[in-house]
Amino acid sequence: MIVGSGGREDAIVRNLVSYGHSVYSCIGIANPSIIRNSAEYVEVRETDWKSIHARSLAWRPDLAVVSPDSALDTPLVDSLTLSGIPVASPSSKAAEIETSKQFMRSIMAKYSIEGNLWNQTYTDSESLRSGISGMRNEFVVKPIGLTGGKGVRVMGEHFPDAESGIKLAEEILGKDGRVLIEEKVTGEEFSLQVFCDGSDIVAMPLAQDYKRAYEGNTGPNTGGMGSITDSDHLLPFVSAAQKDKAMGILRRIVSALSMEGRPFTGIMYGQFMASRNGVKVIEINARFADPEGINVINLLDEDLGEIFMKLVNGNVETGIRFKNRATVLKYVVPPGYGTNPRQTDLIISPAEKADSAELYYASVTGTLDKVKTSKSRALAIIAQADSIPEASRKVDESLKRISGEFAIRRDIGSAEMIRRKVASFNNPAS
Ligand code: AMP
Ligand code: GLY
Repeated sequence: MIVGSGGREDAIVRNLVSYGHSVYSCIGIANPSIIRNSAEYVEVRETDWKSIHARSLAWRPDLAVVSPDSALDTPLVDSLTLSGIPVASPSSKAAEIETSKQFMRSIMAKYSIEGNLWNQTYTDSESLRSGISGMRNEFVVKPIGLTGGKGVRVMGEHFPDAESGIKLAEEILGKDGRVLIEEKVTGEEFSLQVFCDGSDIVAMPLAQDYKRAYEGNTGPNTGGMGSITDSDHLLPFVSAAQKDKAMGILRRIVSALSMEGRPFTGIMYGQFMASRNGVKVIEINARFADPEGINVINLLDEDLGEIFMKLVNGNVETGIRFKNRATVLKYVVPPGYGTNPRQTDLIISPAEKADSAELYYASVTGTLDKVKTSKSRALAIIAQADSIPEASRKVDESLKRISGEFAIRRDIGSAEMIRRKVASFNNPAS
């Protein structure tokens, strides 16, 4: 049984079905690809854990996977576990590593884990003002809880100076009663997703996510407009040593969670910044990333169902095989996405040749060849190739399969973009 109905869940479901599993889906939106690939499905809000739990008692699956963060922020995993259903996703206590940014920072501090940032949670405007006014460094304003990737405000990008940052923080304070202020770090961001069985972790290929809505990394933050991976499972601008550092940090977080009586089972995904002062933690998440999860699942040469079972049984092993190919994924989104999205219809014609890009269905309804978009990301187009720029070109080429009005970031993975990043990696001072 799988909970979730985006592009990431379409990728999970299609891996499972290709290995002969029967999938029972709880979907928030009538995603035509998930429906096509499910033995049975039910349309239900992904946060309606009581209905999903009731449905699981009727289905009695051998294994459940709760994929989206919104569902992990409910008692769903705990209630499935209590009913004797094995779940390859973290309990609500373990998922707090994502659902509370304050908890994540405090665990890192308590266990002196490398890569933490200066941070402070404020609950009143007076201490917020006095805390920030003494600060010389640039800072970032964050709600404590989940924001779908859209709640964080970065000084110099989303607001110009300390005073306007305080105003933004006060708005969050007014709504949530709490606000997190963090030191701002700069550098290259990368995503490291790992399989975690409660104590051991196994790495997936590194990925980079492009969150800004418009080309050239401009415009508002989104859930993610696309993502890349490289054939050596590093990135052209992130070294093996930096990946090892990030692995070390995740290992220590997993062990800290165990010591806190919150063992973590499932996928853990760290967002890191390779900064001048070392590898820093931006965020820890308790699930596959979307889109980066689609890149790695697309490369996976193994049965996810078997891996999920190993996570539940506490015996995940190294040597999980991913193809040594580069991938580029670009999301087709409704026009105006990021500020003022408009729903549209898209016609999808069949692929011309077997080796072209693959298409995963996200927040759309309709049929496999004619979809109606929502206001969120619509279709994930992903190609594999020997290099990132070649994969990027393949995605662009396959856009001729899609007619209708949509937006997409063509620059993701382009030769020019990679060249610029590699140049600043080789010459960090410039
Ligand atoms: P999040 O929702 O935490 O993933 O944050 C969204 C984006 O904000 C991240 O991908 C970063 O680009 C940026 N961000 C978050 N925290 C920081 C930080 N402490 N310093 C610099 N950028 C940050
Ligand atoms: N790639 C952004 C996220 O999944 O949170």
